[in-house]
Amino acid sequence: MRCGTFDTENREYVIDRVDAPVSWTNYLGTEEMGAVVSQNAGGYLWVGSAQYGRVTRFRPNGVPLDRPGYYVYLRDDADGDYWSVSWQPVGKPLEKAKYACRHGLSYSAYECEYRGIRAKEVLFIPRGDNVLLWDVEIENRSDRPRALSAFGYVEFSFHVIDMDNQNFQMSLYATGSRCVDGCVEYSLHYENLREFFAASFEPDGFDCVRDAFLGSYRTETNPVAAERGELSGSFENGGNHCGALMKRIALQPGEKRRLIFFLGEGDANAAKRAREFYTPEAVDRCFSGLRGFWDAKLRKLQVSTPNENMNISLNQWNLYQSEVNLFFSRFTSFIEVGGRTGLGYRDTAQDSMCVPHSNPEMSMRRIRQLLRGQVSAGYGLHLFDPDWFDENAKQRSPSPTVVPTAGDKKIIHGLEHTCADDALWLIPAIVENLRESGDFSLLDEVIPYADAGEGTVLDHMRRILDFSWEQRGVHGVCKGLRADWNDCLNLGGGESAMVSFLYVWAGNHFLDLMRYLGKEEELRVYGARNDEMKRICREVLWDGKWFLRGITRDGRPIGSDSCLEGKVHLESNAWAVCSDAVEFEQANSAMDAVDEYLFTEFGLMLNAPSFRTIDDGVGFVTRVFPGVKENGSIFSHPNPWAWVAMAKLGRGTDAMRFYDALLPENQNDRIEIRQSEPYAYCQFVMGKDHTAFGRARHPWMTGSAGWAYYAATRYMLGVRPGFDELVIDPCVPGDWREFRVLREWRGVLYDIIVQNPDGVEKGVREIRLDGEVVDRIPALSGGGVHWIEVAMGVRE
Ligand code: NOJ
Repeated sequence: MRCGTFDTENREYVIDRVDAPVSWTNYLGTEEMGAVVSQNAGGYLWVGSAQYGRVTRFRPNGVPLDRPGYYVYLRDDADGDYWSVSWQPVGKPLEKAKYACRHGLSYSAYECEYRGIRAKEVLFIPRGDNVLLWDVEIENRSDRPRALSAFGYVEFSFHVIDMDNQNFQMSLYATGSRCVDGCVEYSLHYENLREFFAASFEPDGFDCVRDAFLGSYRTETNPVAAERGELSGSFENGGNHCGALMKRIALQPGEKRRLIFFLGEGDANAAKRAREFYTPEAVDRCFSGLRGFWDAKLRKLQVSTPNENMNISLNQWNLYQSEVNLFFSRFTSFIEVGGRTGLGYRDTAQDSMCVPHSNPEMSMRRIRQLLRGQVSAGYGLHLFDPDWFDENAKQRSPSPTVVPTAGDKKIIHGLEHTCADDALWLIPAIVENLRESGDFSLLDEVIPYADAGEGTVLDHMRRILDFSWEQRGVHGVCKGLRADWNDCLNLGGGESAMVSFLYVWAGNHFLDLMRYLGKEEELRVYGARNDEMKRICREVLWDGKWFLRGITRDGRPIGSDSCLEGKVHLESNAWAVCSDAVEFEQANSAMDAVDEYLFTEFGLMLNAPSFRTIDDGVGFVTRVFPGVKENGSIFSHPNPWAWVAMAKLGRGTDAMRFYDALLPENQNDRIEIRQSEPYAYCQFVMGKDHTAFGRARHPWMTGSAGWAYYAATRYMLGVRPGFDELVIDPCVPGDWREFRVLREWRGVLYDIIVQNPDGVEKGVREIRLDGEVVDRIPALSGGGVHWIEVAMGVRE
């Protein structure tokens, strides 16, 4: 089953079956205001923080799905029949009404055709403003004049999400609404905040009170106002509020009418200004501006390979998802529904590593925030709000809800809540950003620690490595602490193979940088430690055919051939190879085991067989249903680690087989199994030990996006910046004869054609730069385009 198609020309995914099994979402907003919306215009909007700055309400995990949203109702005044421009909330039978949704880059468009009326609603947030525009066009395609009523409707929220869900004794009487000159103004009295809902037209009616619009014991599906064909002019201090504006329109055959709604931050005066400013021409200009914003990002790296779905993914959707993650972090989706604010340390560090070319500003901003959230002992605050440390952060309005602030000692957690991997990810993130920019001044910046004292960025990096080196267990392997990358593997003083390999990998990045900068002392100290850690990993963690996942506090192996459950784990084996810590034979054998035990047609499972026996020495993972999430699902995030590992081993066909299995685009025709959107990676796909094997869950907010992009572009296609050279080191299937990569780096466009006449999987025989044979491609300056021809094969 298929619910839509990729429109590559318009860079949209077109959903023509809007009754997809679950919500298929998209993200709006590129600055302060953001929204997550479904294919049926349901979703929520916030300014600054989805937790504290929630503009519109959402009933998460509700029945029916995705209510409420940004709804436009149309009513045929001849007979009172009404419908919505998005399929939901009215939900006309799909055999009578034609619906589609187009998700694009930071916008979504809803289209319908019903009883000779074609309508379209485009939602987007223009750059530079905190306003959600609903650009609606209605066309009479019938052969008779039509009298219609159009209603825009949105439900406001109590702003602070806890207040919205649990504390009505205060909030219910502290919100008010009124309509001034045709603009609805919503106010949160205790916060001195205002929001507005206005339109490009002089309305023929309004409602500000939700229940006046909907009617008691009704829902958005059958609002009494749409049924009656008029609004009641309601407003009030206290209660639940909405913005509802109505316009009566008469359309001759073939005639069109454009109505624009504005949902924004500010009072009735701001609403009036929006009305004046957002003429149809201005709206068109803003929409083009948004497209231009994304075009500029996508242009930084475009590929053309024999794998069509890989092209679709890398050229648009995968980059877009990676940017959305970097920007919105993890807490705004239909899964995490905005109830938490801040940054998860490890996720944010990894997100900042993957798109330094398309979003250097945000990557560096995140890196600085993480450095500020690092404790002087070297570890990172597992989950923190960067505003705690930002003197310039917007003051939150007074609220009766208790919110921890920087002055509160509780925000600095101790070792018992420290995840052993968190801060290690920051080192490669920093180093990859330096490789991208070539600007090393960051290393001398002085940044305070979260608890006490300050240090240069270089000091911060040293402390991260020192902390992991100190936190080693009885075998010399890094301890697992509260958790490592796997939230559900809670080893405490037990030891983690994954963290040890990660330590080596972070160390490799650090040492590369020190070598480049000529820092002898660091090379000596940290070089010796890296060598020692490699030795320990090779000797202590090798199980005979693959690597252990860890050792429990009481000395039992995890991920050993001798285990009945959780015999083989993906993270430790992929990282053994990615870290370059182990010998070639061990590495190859480990990846053979990954292939044999973990590969499925939907990607690699995290471990197999799944755990079924509760064992708190291993962790919460043993309490998770078999085949779900961290217990034997196809957890997407570590999959790209295996692609990097296969690419490092020169196994291009295997890397591509793994890549193709997980690629959402490849599931477009199997939606009855996948269920979730085929244009975004999901956090996990049910594994073989679950009855719903192949069903994907938790789209968008997952580290698999950044990692898939990173692994595919840098290790499979093999184009990656060094400190002073552009490395081209592809590892591809032997039947690929040619591919092309356009990569902008430090202001220069490299137009790279890779040819593979001998059908090898790895190895470069010759490189030409603008026609001349060269050993390497140095960092060029002066802008412009340079042509690179690469011949794969064996170097003579
Ligand atoms: C989701 C969390 O956001 C991420 O930090 C973690 O690594 C994975 N779950 C695996 O447990």
